[in-house]
Amino acid sequence: KLSIVIVLLLLLVSASISCNAFSTRSHFPDGFIFGAATSAYQIEGAYLEDGNGLSNWDVFSGTNGSTTEGGNGYIADDDYHRFLEDIEILHSLGVDAYRFSISWTRVLPKGKFGEVNPLGILFYQKIIDNLLLRGIKPFVTIHHFDYPQELEDRYGGWLSPLMQEDFVYFAETCFRNFGDRIKYWTTINEPNIVAMMAYERGLFPPGHCSLPFGNCSAGNSDIEPLVAVHNMMLAHGKAVKLYRERFKAKQGGIIGIVVNVLMYEPLTDDEIDKAAAERSLAFDAAWVLDPVVFGEYPPEMRRIHGNQLPNFTTDEKMIMKDSVDFIGINHYATLYAKDCIYSSCKCDPLDSSCVPGGDRSIRGFASSVSEREGIPIGEPTGIFRFFVVPRGMKEAVDYVKRRYHNKPMFITENGYSSPNNPVEINEIKDDQKRVEYHKAYLSYLLQAIRNGADVRGYFIWSLMDNFEWNSGYKVKFGLYYVDYRTLARIPRSSSVWYKDFLSNNAKAK
Ligand code: NOJ
Repeated sequence: KLSIVIVLLLLLVSASISCNAFSTRSHFPDGFIFGAATSAYQIEGAYLEDGNGLSNWDVFSGTNGSTTEGGNGYIADDDYHRFLEDIEILHSLGVDAYRFSISWTRVLPKGKFGEVNPLGILFYQKIIDNLLLRGIKPFVTIHHFDYPQELEDRYGGWLSPLMQEDFVYFAETCFRNFGDRIKYWTTINEPNIVAMMAYERGLFPPGHCSLPFGNCSAGNSDIEPLVAVHNMMLAHGKAVKLYRERFKAKQGGIIGIVVNVLMYEPLTDDEIDKAAAERSLAFDAAWVLDPVVFGEYPPEMRRIHGNQLPNFTTDEKMIMKDSVDFIGINHYATLYAKDCIYSSCKCDPLDSSCVPGGDRSIRGFASSVSEREGIPIGEPTGIFRFFVVPRGMKEAVDYVKRRYHNKPMFITENGYSSPNNPVEINEIKDDQKRVEYHKAYLSYLLQAIRNGADVRGYFIWSLMDNFEWNSGYKVKFGLYYVDYRTLARIPRSSSVWYKDFLSNNAKAK
């Protein structure tokens, strides 16, 4: 009997050790930063208040039919008036850091063609000071999708090289006014997504399409996504050079870029699909990361695009190479990649924009599909082609670690939106799926860290529901539910879980 009891006790202890393996923050390295993320346009509202200028997103979301149910960012979560309440929420969660972005138009309503707006500067001063007062580190994105419409009207935004200097001027304004208190900067959020959504699929402003996605009026050139990313790359490189030469020594921060790392697994064990998966990664995350680490676009892209892909001059290569102190990874999803060079591509039946014969220009003759033999890669979410595939977190981090020699990384976004919008308040508040999502993704992240990946932080997207770009307010990512009739922030179960996790009390799944 005694031996049975001892065996049972041993089993219990070992079960609790292994269950706890990934369950609390204490399993993450010392100094690992946990936070929550938002972006200016998605939460601030107050769109023409206190000198704020008109942005590309104000114009686009105000145009009929461009967003779900006509959603726009004019009021959004009204964080402009409620930022103190939002900082209190962050404080009550117990986060170490808050990732937010600076609205270009609030600070420079017309870019460099106008004055600095003192009330815009004041707004971010107040946010930063109040975060610091509560011991929360500001983790600042300089540019997160919204820019002055003035720059679109004058020269077509990111399609023009002139935009580079505009961005540098904006970044300098931020370093000068806020840099004494900011230790973590990122320049541009997800250039690869902007390329795809704004210049390939027509879903973000300026709403251009590239061949073969020619179903919207403007654009229709294969090279627009390549040109836009090129200008964003140089804008990034030049801003980092300026920071390092003029601000870093005094201000002591680090600076990086944020890229969306969509993971790709080969659809079959066939070598050609394995190569397609590698190509898809090269044409997506590495499109942005190779330039900022190696000073060149991925050789995989050069081979297929030749000189359609812009070149960096020798001087530009010097600016681009090693232009990040860390890599910010936004990770949400994993898809299968299928070769389109040697075989005809089977498109995802859900993807109306997928062209049989292959996604030739932007994915390197690879097609991404979400099912293998009729079985989806993971559970669908509220965002088209975002599937829950927790192992993808480890695969994405391992990919970046391998390709970029383990540069320091932060997971700058990871989050879940439900595929069906609950209607009852109890359903709304009880988001167990979001809790499970984060637990599972965190456990794979921890595995990657234990295998040596230098990941230094993790931010949940998002602190609260907000304006999800072309999807309007239909897609909700928040730890807090926002009631858009009253703008009240209502905690979901996930916020309770996160708080518990952060205070190190969370128990195993
Ligand atoms: C990444 C973007 O940075 C963010 O703005 C967006 O809301 C999330 N993805 C979810 O789609």
